[in-house]
Amino acid sequence: MVAAITPVLAVFLGCVTFSGTENVGNGTILLPRVLNTIEKLGSFFGSDYSSINVDGLFGLRVAQGQVKLSISECRAASCTADVMARLMALDDKMETIASKAMPYIEDTDPKYFQRFRETIARPYVIGYHPETIDLLDQGFKKGTSPSYDEEKGDACYARLMGTYTENGNLLPKCNVTDACLEMMLHAHTARYVTTHQLLYFIVLEHMGCKNVGDYEEDEIRVIQEIFCTRIYREARSFVTQGNVHVSKRDLFLEQTMLCGSLGFEDFMKADWIRMVLRWPDTTDWCFKLNKHDLVEIAEESVGNFVKENKIKDPRVLKILLEDIDQLASKQYSEIVEEGLKGNRASMRKPLREQTMKDGCLSHTTGLGIGVFGVYLRYLLRLV
Ligand SMILES: *[C@@H]1O[C@H](CO)[C@@H](O)[C@H](O)[C@H]1NC(C)=O
Ligand SMILES: *[C@@H]1O[C@H](CO)[C@@H](O)[C@H](O)[C@H]1NC(C)=O
Repeated sequence: MVAAITPVLAVFLGCVTFSGTENVGNGTILLPRVLNTIEKLGSFFGSDYSSINVDGLFGLRVAQGQVKLSISECRAASCTADVMARLMALDDKMETIASKAMPYIEDTDPKYFQRFRETIARPYVIGYHPETIDLLDQGFKKGTSPSYDEEKGDACYARLMGTYTENGNLLPKCNVTDACLEMMLHAHTARYVTTHQLLYFIVLEHMGCKNVGDYEEDEIRVIQEIFCTRIYREARSFVTQGNVHVSKRDLFLEQTMLCGSLGFEDFMKADWIRMVLRWPDTTDWCFKLNKHDLVEIAEESVGNFVKENKIKDPRVLKILLEDIDQLASKQYSEIVEEGLKGNRASMRKPLREQTMKDGCLSHTTGLGIGVFGVYLRYLLRLV
């Protein structure tokens, strides 16, 4: 056990000095860049609201929640009239886009829309409690992703939101079953499984569910802390040489949006903010993948396939290498789908990616705007 933990510990102690440690100071340098980026991303959504999907709109609603909190911060801190005016305009614009997008989403996927209506119908304001993660209080165990049954997971969310139907009857909100708790508290998960477990306890808090199961209100925060500690370690392991591989950016953004909006300020270090500022496409102002990114992702997915299936036969390897080019010429969503072939039981959620105009990705761009909302609110509190 000790032998297995030591190298990992060494890596993580090594990282501490290099990544995610730089404070943002008084926020005045990053604020204009973050504000400019969130406005541009908002304009992008405004130019293509008919192709936003539920997940993209959730990100936009989280961003709007953060903008509303920013307006309060701005009032308290007496920030400039210009910044205040821009925040108010941003809030109005996001409201307009979201309400215009709703009927399109309902039309495309009425069942999913009904179920998750609560998360996209209004700005999603998440309770912010500033906190830094104590990395020393737990042993590090790298998670494995057990299969996450998305149908079951969605049903657990629906039970919280009062949109779950059983024998033709709608159950009242805040229904928590043992099976759901077991699934959502399962230890040693990783990646999207962990973020979706955390999201369950965000939705639970947001719905105002009190004393569910054996849990009291303050214990919900403890659960969020445990998840965000695990998520933070994972997020940090993705940052090498000041950047995150394109195939992990969507996940990194999901991690930052969820833990950041809960108040875990380790996700809002200056070097991480500057890194994420470099990610959006500056022509279309959205998150998309260029040809080079697609090749990298295809290489990684083929590489994983080779590893998982222990393929050594050079003839098979050659065919797979030829596949990379073919894969890279496809859309991102198809690549992810191909990459997960034979691994159907894993998360279907990231496959809910949908391409918007100019090859922009709805899920990632939604998360991106949510993350810039989190940064914005954080920086405004420091100015
Ligand atoms: C904020 O920091 C910058 C540089 O670090 C400095 O020039 C500026 O005066 C500071 N602003 C305030 C209000 O303290
Ligand atoms: C939750 O729903 C189940 C049926 O699926 C029901 O048996 C249970 O009593 C409900 N719990 C609460 C607290 O309403």
